[in-house]
Order: sequence, then structure tokens, then C-alpha cells
Amino acid sequence: MRSESTWHGKAPGRVNLIGEHVDYLGGIVLPAAVDRFIEVTGHGSANWSIASDVEGGLAYVRAVCEELEVGPQAVQVASQVPPNAGLSSSAALLVAVAAGLRPGMDGRKAALACQRAEQKATGVQVGVMDQFASALGRRGDALLLDCATLEYELVPFPDEVAIAVIDSGEHRALAATPYNQRRREAEAGDPKRMRHVHSEIARVRAFVAALRKRDFNRLGELLKESHASLRDDFEVSTPNVDALVEQVSSIGGCYGARIMGAGFGGSVLALLDRTRTQNLVAVVGRAVQICSTADGAFVREA
Ligand code: GLA
Repeated sequence: MRSESTWHGKAPGRVNLIGEHVDYLGGIVLPAAVDRFIEVTGHGSANWSIASDVEGGLAYVRAVCEELEVGPQAVQVASQVPPNAGLSSSAALLVAVAAGLRPGMDGRKAALACQRAEQKATGVQVGVMDQFASALGRRGDALLLDCATLEYELVPFPDEVAIAVIDSGEHRALAATPYNQRRREAEAGDPKRMRHVHSEIARVRAFVAALRKRDFNRLGELLKESHASLRDDFEVSTPNVDALVEQVSSIGGCYGARIMGAGFGGSVLALLDRTRTQNLVAVVGRAVQICSTADGAFVREA
């Protein structure tokens, strides 16, 4: 490719249905790509530059270009993935750049390159889940990903269940949170942290079984249990998020809710009866994203 030629890339945000703080320990997770996209246009240039509505985006762009061994680029970013809303806008940006510059790349390799780029750009030792979901998620499915082997299986996700992501309004850059500390504690085998990891992995399996049986109430129970474990054993929730989870869980049509993503504030995931989402929007009175599953940037048409 000539470095001056213009390239375009597009990648979705993601949700994580269940399997939190287990990706970097080689556990199994169940994310899905969702229908909010970042689009990037770029071309080789004498200097790095970015025109973007995503804050701090240039560090990510440079880091992923470095991983792909690409020199300075001028990039323009158009984002439908609200920043700080829990939909992993940073993974979507990284994957969009990778897809634009290396459209033929293997999706797994692209996800790994984007994970390394995120680690370098932020200093946070993130797992591969977010980048993987943005690269290889599928419309109509959740992705059951084994983070030890990067093998994955598609698990059909029902249209009647709405995926809602509610911004808690409590935002902290991941680098300013104890994320790396939690990772070290778990890697060192701290019993309380490991109790979360083992119970969460069991919940991922139970969640997949419930999805296959279309037992939506069971999905909700597992979300509640996941939240309690993230709150009490992994200690990544906050009183504000706990209250929001309680509030959301009690809304008619809601199967269950939990803190989603890294935590320490951030966002809440809720699963609801698709015909009853207005209740949620009316009750929480804050930014809510009602999402559907979508194709990842490296999914090839069959
Ligand atoms: C962030 C990281 C992921 C994962 C989650 C917690 O989203 O980027 O790799 O560790 O936190 O499950």
C-alpha cells in the first residue's frame, strides 16, 4: 500500500454480557459487538494528526499504527460510540484503524495487535475481550471467547431481549483506577479475588446454557449474582453504581442488571424485554443506550 493512499475503517463498540475481570486471567467471556460504530479515514502524512470527537484518540491511533508498522498518519474520526458510556470506544477506534489499514488481516491477530496498542497507549494491562468483540463479534450472536486459546463460539442472542447500557455518570480514566492492582492481586491468587474469578467463569457457562434454553429470567439472576461478586469479591463497584443497579433491576420488564466493563464507576448493563424499554429510559433519567448486536470489523461475508 502506498502510504499516501486514503484508507477507511469502521468498527463497532461492544458490550460484555457476562465474564468480567476474567479475560486477562485466561477465563471465558461473553461479549457482543453492538450497533454503534466508529469510522476512521486516514492517509500517510509528514506528521501525526487527528480530527476527532474521541478525546485522547491520537495516542491510540499512534500505538496501533506502531503495532502495524505504519508511519505517521493524518486521521479523521467520526464516532457514534459515546465516549465513557461503557461501550469501549477506545477498542472501536483501535479496531477501526486496524481494519482500515489492514483489511485482509486475520481478525484474531488484529485483536491482539489492538490489545497491545491499548496497553501501550494507556499503561493499563487490559485483556483482549473488547478488541476481540469489536473485531469478530457477529450480528445476531454473542461471542463465547476462551481468552486462553482465543477459540470462540457464536451463541445466538435473541432479538426480544434488549441490551441496555446506562451511564453511571461516574467516569475515571482506567489508568487512574486500581485495574492493574486488581489484575496483580488475582494473578497472585488472592482468595477473595479468585472466588470472583471462579464463580464468574461458572456464571458464563450457566448464562450460555440459559441463552440456549431461552430462559431470560435465569439470565437476569446470573447478572445479579455477577454484580454481587464484582461488588463484594472483586471490589470494582461503587455505591453510586450499586444504587443504579438496584434501581434498574426493579423496573418492570428488566430481567437483571450489573456493573459492566472495568468498573470503578462506568456503566451498567441491563437486559430487558425489548417491548418494555421505555420504562427504563423514563425511570433512570440519564443517558441510556439501547443496543442490538452487530458485525465486527473483521467479519467476512459468508
Ligand atoms: C476492561 C478491559 C477488558 C476487561 C474488562 C473487565 O474493559 O479492557 O479487557 O478486563 O475491563 O472485564
